[in-house]
Amino acid sequence: MAGYTKLFCALTVFLSASANGFYLPGVAPTSYNEGDAVQLSVNHITPSLMKADEDSATFLYSFDYYFERFHFCVPEEGKQKQSESLGSILFGDRIFNSPFELKLLQNTTCNKLCTVTYPAEDASFVNKYIRAGFQFNMMIDGLPVAKELMDSQTDDIFYSSGFNIGYDDKENLPHLYNHYDFFIEYHPRSDGSYRVVGATVDATSIQYIDPDEINCNAEVFEPVRLKEDEQTDVTFSYSVYWVPSDTAWATRWDKYLHVYDPKIQWFALLNFSLIVVFLSIIMSHILLKTLRNDIKKYNEVNLDDDMIDEMGWKLIYGDVFRPPKNPMLLSVLVGSGVQILLMALTSCFLAAFGLLSPSNRGSLATVMFVLYSLYGLIGSYYSAYVYKFFQGQDWKINMFLTPVLVPGTIFSIFILINFFLISVHSSGAVPAGTMLAVFLIWFAVSIPYSCIGSLLALKKKAIELPVKVNQIARQIPPQPWYMRTRYLALIAGIFPFGAIAIEMYFIYNSIWFNRIFYMFGFLFFCFLLMLVTCMLVTLSLIYFSLCNENYNWQWKSFFVSSGIAIYVFLHAIILSRLKLGGLTSIVLYVGYSMLIAATVGIMCGTVGFLSSMYLTLNIYGQIKVD
Ligand SMILES: *[C@@H]1O[C@H](CO)[C@@H](O)[C@H](O)[C@H]1NC(C)=O
Repeated sequence: MAGYTKLFCALTVFLSASANGFYLPGVAPTSYNEGDAVQLSVNHITPSLMKADEDSATFLYSFDYYFERFHFCVPEEGKQKQSESLGSILFGDRIFNSPFELKLLQNTTCNKLCTVTYPAEDASFVNKYIRAGFQFNMMIDGLPVAKELMDSQTDDIFYSSGFNIGYDDKENLPHLYNHYDFFIEYHPRSDGSYRVVGATVDATSIQYIDPDEINCNAEVFEPVRLKEDEQTDVTFSYSVYWVPSDTAWATRWDKYLHVYDPKIQWFALLNFSLIVVFLSIIMSHILLKTLRNDIKKYNEVNLDDDMIDEMGWKLIYGDVFRPPKNPMLLSVLVGSGVQILLMALTSCFLAAFGLLSPSNRGSLATVMFVLYSLYGLIGSYYSAYVYKFFQGQDWKINMFLTPVLVPGTIFSIFILINFFLISVHSSGAVPAGTMLAVFLIWFAVSIPYSCIGSLLALKKKAIELPVKVNQIARQIPPQPWYMRTRYLALIAGIFPFGAIAIEMYFIYNSIWFNRIFYMFGFLFFCFLLMLVTCMLVTLSLIYFSLCNENYNWQWKSFFVSSGIAIYVFLHAIILSRLKLGGLTSIVLYVGYSMLIAATVGIMCGTVGFLSSMYLTLNIYGQIKVD
């Protein structure tokens, strides 16, 4: 028991250390002098978890800040898009300049921005998204402008990035926030310059009586109500307060990365993970011992006729390496699986050790994309290698299909989803130029790399089969119903899914509601746990299947192991409890859930297949066959 507690502590320390290591500076700090202009930029308007109206539908797509139906004030010099990394664009960032003027250390109050007129139909448009809880995402010096919140369990103050565009009052009437009080925290440095270390906002809704004489500090005022049957004039205004702070630049992200979710029982979660680790160790131990005993027994016994009935997996040695049906597809899937798996592991590892900071927007996505292209080499290598193991002859088709099939399918789904996004004028729609860039990078980097990989594998000698394949296929005896692949997949999927279920919840929040995802240390740990459980469960089931004299292990191991995809998809669909608004949100949700489930399925299937391949090559290599 003491050992268990120690292990638990060590693990907690490791996880929190890797979480703290996260904000190594991703970008160089900017120092300002008093009176310097500090730019406030505006990012897209996104859905959030904080709905104004609980019963309102959830929308999953975002809008440009300057989308015309919102009528937000445009800067005098005109709106300008800021250049962003590829990853940042792909993940939806659309950053523009803003009309807000901020000068370091100069408090200004009640600055008027502009007065706009909302026609009735745009008023109902804005009201709809106020109800759905859409929020602004503004940025100052790379930091998100946040709402200050309090953790009800620990009373810690933390920052939740973004703030709602409006609120619902007690009568369920939506009101638009048109006045923003920015509180910018600065940290004075010894050389007399200053750094921005935090930014929060208080938004209010004020119906100004005279747009030329705005008094944003009035004690009593009417909130803005956008009328859905006539025009409404709204004046926007803001105040800026500079607040000194002790927070150093290096730790300025701390408050933003507060883990706040009362639903998550961390302790129980860690306990569960440890139980899984523990069970995995026992299971691998038993499996190894059984196999060793089997091999020892087989090599001692002379092949007496009456012994044959009890021989188990040795009986099928002449068929176990018989190529499966559709060897091409399986090898291509395994190649893609290796590629995705390596990409996911590496980027998760880099993120866990703080190399991809949240201040460097989109770095994670960019790194994922680049890694994926580069790993095409290893993916294709494995694809060709496995294809050769299946004694396939059409290596040219294999070389072509590996970099095309899976990425091409993903890309097509992406384009399809994009059309839906365009139809609702969402900013999430990836611009044609970026699509083209992605396509070209894929062509220019991924495909040549893949070809090199395939050729390397072809040069290599094929795996030497430890036993010869018989001319005539052996008949497979009738199998019990529960040994069917689909039932085994259902059984095998549960355990690895348990390892990542919690992580999926956070990943979905970050995908759909623009939450910062930062628990990469924990994700990395869960990810490894998932792979190990996948492997062990699949190996055990394949062992039983071989003992039942069923030598079709190739597809079986892939499918059984990818059973986790079923749970990932069902979890997304059933447990989401989202009331989705409109066809586009549904298509987005189902489409992305399917993509995620399929990706996880291919990764796990690959792990299951490769480990079963290793198992069969090993055990049949160790028995004596005459
Ligand atoms: C600006 O306002 C903040 C918040 O009210 C206050 O703490 C600070 O002292 C003010 N700064 C100046 C220079 O007046």
